[in-house]
Amino acid sequence: MSKAALEMTIDTDSFNAIAELAYRESGLQLAAEKTSMIQSRLRHRLRALGLQDFANYSAFVCSDDGRDERRHMISALTTNVSHFFREKHHFDVLKKQFETVLLPKLKAGGRVRIWSAGCSNGQEALSIAMVLLEVAPDVAKLDLRILATDIDPEVVNFAKQSSYHERLVGGIPPELLHKYFQCVKQNDEKIYQAGGQLLKIISFRELNLLAKWPMQQKMDVIFCRNVVIYFDLDTQNRLWPRFRDVLSPNGILFLGHSERISDPATFGFISDGPTTYLPSTASDGSSPLRKEN
Ligand SMILES: C[S@@+](CC[C@H](N)C(=O)[O-])C[C@H]1O[C@@H](n2cnc3c(N)ncnc32)[C@H](O)[C@@H]1O
Repeated sequence: MSKAALEMTIDTDSFNAIAELAYRESGLQLAAEKTSMIQSRLRHRLRALGLQDFANYSAFVCSDDGRDERRHMISALTTNVSHFFREKHHFDVLKKQFETVLLPKLKAGGRVRIWSAGCSNGQEALSIAMVLLEVAPDVAKLDLRILATDIDPEVVNFAKQSSYHERLVGGIPPELLHKYFQCVKQNDEKIYQAGGQLLKIISFRELNLLAKWPMQQKMDVIFCRNVVIYFDLDTQNRLWPRFRDVLSPNGILFLGHSERISDPATFGFISDGPTTYLPSTASDGSSPLRKEN
């Protein structure tokens, strides 16, 4: 191996320092067996900063002056894969909840808030918006907001643009793609731009789930899918009560297909189908929503 390549190889101390920092800042767990992936994800940060080796990088990113770099580092380390209408069964539940509970609430002058927590490039929030608009095309006139947040500033900026290459829109049924996106050609490739009716009801923001949450209002639905899979059990268990506190009594929490609340009752939830949780608000641990259904 050449000297330059060796220096771009992460040493154990630097790996440990970076892993500890990533865990503390964002809850991300960097397993030792993923060393080569982590190394390759961070190499471009070394180049961007003109640093020769990981020892200098870890010293810088852990220092007081490394505050901005910590955001770049977390951005490089997060996995942002997402799809439109991923795990479709959740969108079926959302549609039913919207028709039977949330739309009547809105029409009666109430407020509805839906949170896509760990929204990545925005596909989840836009899928939610399409479901709602299909049921109620005038919903933007009512007090409805979809809050879409992610720790990674790069994906949040991407989501705000909401411009998707044709290979990213496969999950969208053709009639919805045609209805809600504008297709433009760039260098013989098709780019789909989400329309104003979708973007009007979504706010994209940077937010670390482990930090303080600024929102004051209760959430009617929370999507936090394929996010906590990167956290250890302690971090997950610190998150559940926070979701419980912010969820309205008739609310729903959706997790990703391989995520579970290990002991829902302990955290004030009851399980209601695959990776779907309701707050248990009654003294017997049941949920008013489930009783209605
Ligand atoms: C695999 S994507 C999931 C996207 C979408 N929810 C889905 O299911 O398709 C995971 C997202 O979680 C975000 N994430 C990881 N740690 C986070 C944290 N501490 N706070 C907020 N977002 C976080 C990542 O930046 C990434 O965009």
